[in-house]
Amino acid sequence: MSICFINTRIMRLHDLKVIAFALLFLALSVLQQSRCQQLPDSLVQNALRVSFKHLESSVIEVRDSTRFPSYAPHDLQWSYFNSGGWTSGFYPGCLWLAYELSGRNEFREWARTWTAGLEKEKRNTNTHDLGFMFCCSFGNGLKNVSQNEARAYRDILVQAALTLDRRYSPKVGMLRCYWDEAPFSQDTTLYPVVVDIMMNLELLFWGAENGAPQSLKDHAIQHANKTYRDFVRPDGGTYHVVRYKKDSGEIFNKGQLQGQDEKSTWTRGHAWFTYGMTVCYRYTRDESFLEKACALADYFIKRLTPDDVSAWDFDSKPEFKHVKDASATAIVSSALFELSTYVKDQAQKGKYREKATAMLAALCSKDYLAEREKTNALLLHSTQYLTQPGNQNTDKPAIFADYYFLEAVKRYLALEKTGRVF
Ligand code: GLY
Repeated sequence: MSICFINTRIMRLHDLKVIAFALLFLALSVLQQSRCQQLPDSLVQNALRVSFKHLESSVIEVRDSTRFPSYAPHDLQWSYFNSGGWTSGFYPGCLWLAYELSGRNEFREWARTWTAGLEKEKRNTNTHDLGFMFCCSFGNGLKNVSQNEARAYRDILVQAALTLDRRYSPKVGMLRCYWDEAPFSQDTTLYPVVVDIMMNLELLFWGAENGAPQSLKDHAIQHANKTYRDFVRPDGGTYHVVRYKKDSGEIFNKGQLQGQDEKSTWTRGHAWFTYGMTVCYRYTRDESFLEKACALADYFIKRLTPDDVSAWDFDSKPEFKHVKDASATAIVSSALFELSTYVKDQAQKGKYREKATAMLAALCSKDYLAEREKTNALLLHSTQYLTQPGNQNTDKPAIFADYYFLEAVKRYLALEKTGRVF
């Protein structure tokens, strides 16, 4: 009886110790989690200070609203596309984000000016990138202009969505890419699609909700599902391009246009895919899109190097392992902040938010933020065509890196303040 009593006491003491340790462990992991999800205020404020300063001086460098920054290959100074270039929406987009983050009216006025410079592209049928061009410019502007102006912006966006939709083929069930067709390739029997198009679906979804036919949404859904079916490899990595036969819609071949080789996963392509799939969930609330977005995000996280900035290609040859792509990192950081608000599992939510924050912290560091360089770009070290003929814009600033970086900062701050990204 007494032995039993002593045993019970020992057991109770033991239990108490176990419970105390468990509570301590829980408290420490909660502390650890919240710490990893928070950036030092000074880091964020510094990133904003540098961004506002550079964007302010960029207006003098860029000078007129028919020129749109693309990459900064020579002495870190911007080179330009005209309004029809695929990057044209990002500069006005950066100015809109700077306005929202600073509340400074001059950013709003500059944003309006460069946004207006893009309107004439709303009937441009020669590009699959109208989504990038119009969502980042007019799309961001919508909530920051007067009601009258917003009505005009809305009409322009709807027209751009209708134009983009003309690239949809019912036979293939996808939107066609403009590269890899004449004059790049003479084979007119093929129907090439690149993973980047996932980023343009937002314009179709938005259009269908704002006066364009419902079929635009159906086409976006078809395109997203087929992209997932055909571009994802069994290991979760992704192709950049899939070429279909125009007449039958059958797959002709799969490959790579900007990454290492046919078997590799080009990180920015995978980043576009992850972000685009997250947007599909935002507009449809279809759980299968959420699962797909998470699978793509998990692959990206799994292959990320410990410094939290992705290499240019996850499978690059040893001699290129050091070549980074800050843009892919910014795109996925921004996407993960949004994705973290959709997943229900607390551990997964924590993981995405923590990784997004770590990636953003790396981009805010002196290795990536162009704080000490003579440039008006915000981020260093993005890569366009490392192994392609001409090898342009390797390890240089790119305007889309700056855009998604600012968007990630904005989402990080919004999440901290309101628990939401929008
Ligand atoms: N294909 C456009 C880019 O991401 O470089």
